Amino acid sequence: MTVTAALETPCAEPRTPTRRRFVMCPPEHFAVEYAINPWMNPDEPVDTALAVQQWNELKSTYERLGHEVQQVPAQPGLPDMVFAANSGTVIGGRVLGSRFRAPERAAEAEHFRRWFAERGYREVVMPSRINEAEGDFAWTGELLLAGSGFRTDPAAHAEAQEVLGVPVVSLSLVDARYYHLDTALFVLDKGPRAQIAYYPEAFSAGSRRVLERLFPDAVIADEADASCLGLNGVSDGRNVVLPQEATGLAGRLRERGYEPVLLDISELRKSGGGPKCCTMELHG
Ligand code: ARG
Repeated sequence: MTVTAALETPCAEPRTPTRRRFVMCPPEHFAVEYAINPWMNPDEPVDTALAVQQWNELKSTYERLGHEVQQVPAQPGLPDMVFAANSGTVIGGRVLGSRFRAPERAAEAEHFRRWFAERGYREVVMPSRINEAEGDFAWTGELLLAGSGFRTDPAAHAEAQEVLGVPVVSLSLVDARYYHLDTALFVLDKGPRAQIAYYPEAFSAGSRRVLERLFPDAVIADEADASCLGLNGVSDGRNVVLPQEATGLAGRLRERGYEPVLLDISELRKSGGGPKCCTMELHG
C-alpha cells in the first residue's frame, strides 16, 4: 500500500469482494393492493414505472460490481413477486422453497419452484411450515440466522436445518415494522469470521444476547438506519448496496473498510421492501 492510500483508510482492514449469483424478478406488476405489513398503504399511489427504473438500477449495480443476475419472469396478479428473497433459500445447490403466510402471496412459491426445477436443481424441497425464505433466513457461511415473530414459523427453522443440513440459530423479532429478519439484520462478510450489521431493538432480549455473543464486532444500527430499511442491504464482502437514506450506517461501514453503494428504492419501500428483499442469493 502506498503512504497516501494508507492515510485515506486509517483504521479499516482491506475488504475483498466475492462474486455472487443473484436471482431477481422485475416489478412489472408491482403495486400495493393489500396491507400485510405496516409499510403498506393501498391508498398511497405507487409509480410502477419508477419501481421498474429503481429495480433496473439495482440490477445493473450488481452487474457493474461483477455479480451474476438471473431473472424469474414476473406474473400478473402477484404484485409482491419482485421480492425474490422470499421465495427460496439456496445453499450448496439445495433449494428450500417457500410457503407464504399471506394468501395474497401464496402463488409466488410455485413459480419459483418451477423455475428451479427447470434449471435442473434436483434437491428442491417445498416447506411444510410457513417459511418466507431469505426474508427470514440469513446465511453467514457457517450459520443460518433465522427470524420468526411475524412471518416464518419457528418450526420452519428446524425444517430448514434438516433440509439444508446447516446449523440454524433462531432469533425472535419483536417490532412489526421489522417483520422479516432481513429488515433488521444482514450479513456483511461471510465465513468463519462473519460480520453482520443489525438493529438490536428489533429483537427480543434473549436474541440480542445471542447476537452479541456470536457477533461481538457487529456493526450496530440505530433507529435512523433501520427506519429507511437500511438493514435491507446486500454485501459482497466489500461493496454494500443500501437505500440512499442510510447515510449514518454507510459512514459506519466505511470506517470498517466497506464501500457503501447508495440507491433510491423509494417505490419498493412503499411495500416494505429494499435491495435485499429484491435479491435472492444462490449461496455456493
Ligand atoms: N410486501 C411484501 C410483504 O410484506 C414485502 C416483502 C419484503 N421482502 C423481504 N424480504 N423483507 O410480504
